[in-house]
Amino acid sequence: MQGHLDMEGALTARDRVGIQDFVLLDETTEAAFISNLKKRFSKDLIYTYIGTLLVSVNPYKELDIFNKKQMDIYMGVNFFELPPHIYALADNAYQTMLTEVTNHFILISGESGAGKTEASKKILQYYAVSCPSTTLLDTVRDKMLMSNPVLEAFGNAKTLKNDNSSRFGKYMDIQFDSQGEAVGGHILNYLLEKSRVVHQNHGERNFHIFYQLVQGGSDDLLQQLGLERDCQQYNYLTQGECAIVSSINDKNDWKSVKNALQVIDFDDIDTSHLFGIVASVVHLGNVQFETDSKGYALLNNNTELLWVSNLLGVDAQSLQEELTFRKIEAKKEQVLSPFTIDHAIYARDALAKAIYGQTFTWLVNRINESMENKDSSPKSVIGLLDIYGFEVFYVNSFEQFCINYCNEKLQQLFIQLTLKAEQDEYEAEGIEWEPVQFFNNKIICDLVEERHRGIISILDEECLRPGDATDITFLEELEEKMGNHPHFVTHKLADKMTRKTLERGDFRLLHYAGEVTYCVVGFLDKNNDLLYRNIKDLMCQSKNSIVKARFSSMDLDNKKRPETVATQFKSSLLKLTEMLTAKEAWYIRCLKSNESKQPGQFDEALIRHQVKYLGLMEHLRVRRAGFAYRRKYEVFLKRYKPLCPATWPHWRGGPADGVQVLVQHLGYLPDEYKLGRTKIFIRHPRTLYATEDAYERCKHELATRLQAKYKGYKAKGQYRKQREAATKIETVWRGMQARKEREKRTWAVKVIKKFIKGYMTRGQAKTTDNSEYLAFVRQSYLNRLKDNLPKTVLDKTTWLTPPAVLTETSEILRTLHCRLLVRKYVRGITPQKKAQLQLKVATSSVFRGKKDSYPQSVPHPFVDTRISDQEMNARVLQMIHNEHIKYSVPIIKYDRNGFKPRPRQLALTQMAAYVIEEAKIKRRVLFTSLKGISVSNLTDSIIVFHVTCEDPKQKGDLVMQCDYLFEFLAKLSVIANKQNAIHVVQGSIKIEIQAGKESAVDFSNGEEPMVYKAKNGHLMVVATRARTR
Ligand SMILES: Nc1ncnc2c1ncn2[C@@H]1O[C@H](COP(=O)(O)OP(=O)(O)O)[C@@H](O)[C@H]1O
Ligand SMILES: [Mg+2]
Repeated sequence: MQGHLDMEGALTARDRVGIQDFVLLDETTEAAFISNLKKRFSKDLIYTYIGTLLVSVNPYKELDIFNKKQMDIYMGVNFFELPPHIYALADNAYQTMLTEVTNHFILISGESGAGKTEASKKILQYYAVSCPSTTLLDTVRDKMLMSNPVLEAFGNAKTLKNDNSSRFGKYMDIQFDSQGEAVGGHILNYLLEKSRVVHQNHGERNFHIFYQLVQGGSDDLLQQLGLERDCQQYNYLTQGECAIVSSINDKNDWKSVKNALQVIDFDDIDTSHLFGIVASVVHLGNVQFETDSKGYALLNNNTELLWVSNLLGVDAQSLQEELTFRKIEAKKEQVLSPFTIDHAIYARDALAKAIYGQTFTWLVNRINESMENKDSSPKSVIGLLDIYGFEVFYVNSFEQFCINYCNEKLQQLFIQLTLKAEQDEYEAEGIEWEPVQFFNNKIICDLVEERHRGIISILDEECLRPGDATDITFLEELEEKMGNHPHFVTHKLADKMTRKTLERGDFRLLHYAGEVTYCVVGFLDKNNDLLYRNIKDLMCQSKNSIVKARFSSMDLDNKKRPETVATQFKSSLLKLTEMLTAKEAWYIRCLKSNESKQPGQFDEALIRHQVKYLGLMEHLRVRRAGFAYRRKYEVFLKRYKPLCPATWPHWRGGPADGVQVLVQHLGYLPDEYKLGRTKIFIRHPRTLYATEDAYERCKHELATRLQAKYKGYKAKGQYRKQREAATKIETVWRGMQARKEREKRTWAVKVIKKFIKGYMTRGQAKTTDNSEYLAFVRQSYLNRLKDNLPKTVLDKTTWLTPPAVLTETSEILRTLHCRLLVRKYVRGITPQKKAQLQLKVATSSVFRGKKDSYPQSVPHPFVDTRISDQEMNARVLQMIHNEHIKYSVPIIKYDRNGFKPRPRQLALTQMAAYVIEEAKIKRRVLFTSLKGISVSNLTDSIIVFHVTCEDPKQKGDLVMQCDYLFEFLAKLSVIANKQNAIHVVQGSIKIEIQAGKESAVDFSNGEEPMVYKAKNGHLMVVATRARTR
């Protein structure tokens, strides 16, 4: 049994009004049960559960709980999480079907007017809206939905119990494919109450369609059908004397039916034939017979009959004959035996019922064709069983007998599937328990249906028995056979008290739902459902396709005697029961709130009666008696484990042990619960309530704890994440650095290797090995050179030593650089300096490499003069003022005889050199007479002027010492143009002291510079050695 009560969910959503699930009621008394129903009903809460069973109370008013929004709320939601609703049940069945791939049926029961048909429509609508669908399937869905108004028009009627009472049983399969899409449907119909066509009790109507046609049909249509827009004119429509009732809008319903017919693919011919039949029945009702003198029925020129024959497409004459004569075939001769009026009326009514009944069957078949799914892929079904409810009228006939028998069967099925199944579960779980006593109505079922002994068998026997079988003989037979059955009573069998309530022609059955007294009148006829053979034959020739088709198929199995109505019904119910037992059951128990169809009225007595006979209390008791609550260990533990430290947050052992620990911790008393094989069973709801309340409280604490834990966890996670990220970044960074470093090193190694190789092969010709090294060497040398160039021309030492490859280049560069410096230098010299330098050059050409003191003199620049004019004696200047003094220098003059040194000034003019002592010009040597100038090669600074000396009075050669020897001689050679006259002499210079008298100046090197007169009379000059640089 599926759909165990999810009590926890129900508790969570505990209703403010009463209790949503009777299982949770503290008391299982009928009073508590009804009080809960009433409480809820007063707040328009018409649904209440008993576990998965839905109890529904008819509100007799429109409630705003059947809309798309509500459907959406219930779609796919756990059964007990929301307030009880028919949508919840429908959805639960649907979901179970989808997940378990099983077939289901929803058994909707309750007495007439309790709301079964409405319930089945709600379910169908729910599936139509909530199931997934494609456009193709939309049409199937529409057809399923639209089959309803059509079938209701033809199969429902106003009764005393219900303005829209189903007068046929209906079982509808909705087929779903594996995706859960509704792909097809099939309807099985059970026993239409045909007698209604010809007779209605007071306050009741014929089937809706008749009134709809007359009220709603267009003028044209009515004209075609020969009808007037006035129900009162037609016998069949007015027997209950309530053709028009305010609660029914036939005009509107007509439109719905017309529209529905289109949706289910009825074409024009179908519809015109269909309405032709409906109209023909109406006309038939007005066919009246007259009596002839012998009391036989007469039918002459009856316009109504013409309409019937016209509409059914049969010959009017034949029809008239069939309705007034009985044809007896005797020895190939036909004998016509006229009907009495009663017979004729019987034949007429039989025809009307037959036509209507057959048409209804055709209609169902036709709808089935239209909803059929021809795809052979596997499907799951949900069946909806909406069958006429238990019915008790003032007068009850064969129809009520069948209807109530049917309800008896369904109750039996319910008992089998629920009460028994429930108790079987305890057995399976190994739970010890006292079986709950419930009334098993099998005894009544047997009373009705048992082979050879049941009421149906006896009825059939009477129908088949030759001789004068009547309803009364049937009753007598019953009395004889059922004599002392506890559920059967008749006037004859009853005690005094009961007898008063029974007519002689009645029998009474004590149904599970109450006593019903049946009047036997008509039982045999209705069970036989005979139609005179000739009328049947005539109908087979009908031009109306529906009539022709139906009657022809009836005719096929006409060979042998057809089964009686009751037997057919019995076997169809048997088939139905078999079919349903193979499916999983869901139950809706509909209760009628009051007899007067009034909203807001809760007739307690009426309700109590229904609660009783529907066995709701038993159902509840078994559910609880039992144990109000049972749950698989896993599920129970999962929900309540926070209530016990040992099971929270995780229980490591088996779930059964966990539950044991848990309930002990919760302090369950031993008789409050039982542990089965797979489930825990809790006896009283209050035990569970306490647990649930504890759970509620605990949930809050848990929530806080969880929140804190979660926050901590989240922060920790965040921290860990950040730390991980940091480490990761670090690692990556380090890796990158290391890789860079490695790259750098490999590069360095390569470069260094190359460098070394280059270094080792630097001397060789340029190869790939050394080209880079050489380039580097070149570059680095040039760079270094750039920064270390000699600053002056004279700097010969700073030039960097070039590497081998650059030797040549270096030399070129050096030259270039030198030239550059020279050029710079040259550009920088003044004319004066130039003149000086020219002097130096001249000096150089004379002395370089010849006189030892020359190199030392080079850096000393020459000056214009060594003695300025101011330092000269004015007289002397006066004396030689004709000649411009160009250069003056102090000298030491050596006397010719004793070589005494005398300091003097020497001045050069353009003509002569003057030796001056203070104011005296001591000697004037004309340049013209100066034939030579000699100096030694040593470092001394002795100069000898060789002067032409022709007579002895004349002074001879002039020997002098001058510190500025080179400057002086340079000036002299320029002024006097005497450079060629200067000689550098080694060893000794001959001098003429006077004409003819010679001496010499001898030179030598010594430690100390000295000048003295030697013993040989020569002037001895000792020079120090030139300092070498
Ligand atoms: N859920 C409901 N809401 C409102 N009215 C309802 C509901 N169920 C039944 N009724 C009213 O009760 C009437 C009888 O219901 P119906 O389903 O035909 O009864 P049943 O099929 O059990 O004989 C409906 O015509 C409608 O007026
Ligand atoms: Mg109904």
